Amino acid sequence: MKGYKITTLNEFIVRRQANIPYAKGELSNLLHHISIAAKVLHKKVNKAGLVDVLGEAGNINIQGETQQKLDVFADMQFTAALSNSGECCGIASEENQEIITFDDQLSNDAKYIVCMDPLDGSSNIDVNVSIGTIFSIYRRISPRGQKAQLEDFLQEGNKQIAAGYIIYGSSTMLVYTTGLGVNGFTLDTGIGEFCLSHPDIKTPMDGKIYSLNEGNYNKFPEGVKKYIKYCQEEDKATNRPYSARYIGSLVADFHRNLLKGGVFIYPETASAPTGKLRLLYECNPMAFIAEQAGGKANDGEIRIMDLKPKTLHQRVPLYTGSKNMVENAENFIQKHGK
Ligand code: AHG
Ligand code: MN
Ligand code: MN
Repeated sequence: MKGYKITTLNEFIVRRQANIPYAKGELSNLLHHISIAAKVLHKKVNKAGLVDVLGEAGNINIQGETQQKLDVFADMQFTAALSNSGECCGIASEENQEIITFDDQLSNDAKYIVCMDPLDGSSNIDVNVSIGTIFSIYRRISPRGQKAQLEDFLQEGNKQIAAGYIIYGSSTMLVYTTGLGVNGFTLDTGIGEFCLSHPDIKTPMDGKIYSLNEGNYNKFPEGVKKYIKYCQEEDKATNRPYSARYIGSLVADFHRNLLKGGVFIYPETASAPTGKLRLLYECNPMAFIAEQAGGKANDGEIRIMDLKPKTLHQRVPLYTGSKNMVENAENFIQKHGK
């Protein structure tokens, strides 16, 4: 009788590390600590309807939004995990105005920094719809042995060492890349392990899903309006009309399109001229994953990972997903304008 063959996330990370000469296991350890925080959050999310974690915590975060209780919990949990790992000298989080540096000797000696959106899609918590966590890992550029500096965080996305997300959906999954393709792990709650379920994810070159908040239609750039009309037109040869799918959690919208093929757009709008999503901890990590899966990510014209960040919480427009669809949307922008 054959047993159920499992590759756990840890085993996978360690195997990968063995292929990299001189790797000391620091990144592996960091990813391991992120996965532990993810399991803790999974438990909390699954109890959201039962215990007192629904609703708002009352604080207004630096984006001017009211923090949900789970946002606060997630931020604390991931911050603690990264601090305890001893492999991370500082973090930038959506929930904090400034960078957080871990001022102990072990952390100051660490070589990595992490940018994170601890709880993405927070408006969906109360209604039992998928939410997520996004992370992005860089090697610091300031010398080891001292506190992390702002410059460590304002690196271009093309310098990312690893990036990933956790989706708390009908099951909990962790998807990540270190630049050697994208792999997805599903949490087997029976044994408490993330198990390799989606090896070497490749996103379809084309798809028939378009995802954007069409309620903002009137405020969209001309090129996006024209592209939406294109998506809705009937044309059998190109599989149109496409289907509109929009959850309002970037992680969930991105994950669906990654597996099924599609395009996700959060453009600049009349009221938000640089878009809504944050470059450091939403767009860059998703762009790294999209590209590693054979897809694309740009701001309508420039590759997301080539943008030079100016501030921690900078927002940029995001066009990402299946390569041919993103390029097509890009053509509409070029032709009809931003
Ligand atoms: P967060 O919950 O971390 O603030 O992120 C919400 C983001 C993102 O997940 C989603 O794609 C987008 O906001 C939805 O915005 P709209 O409600 O404007 O469509
Ligand atoms: Mn978010
Ligand atoms: Mn968030």
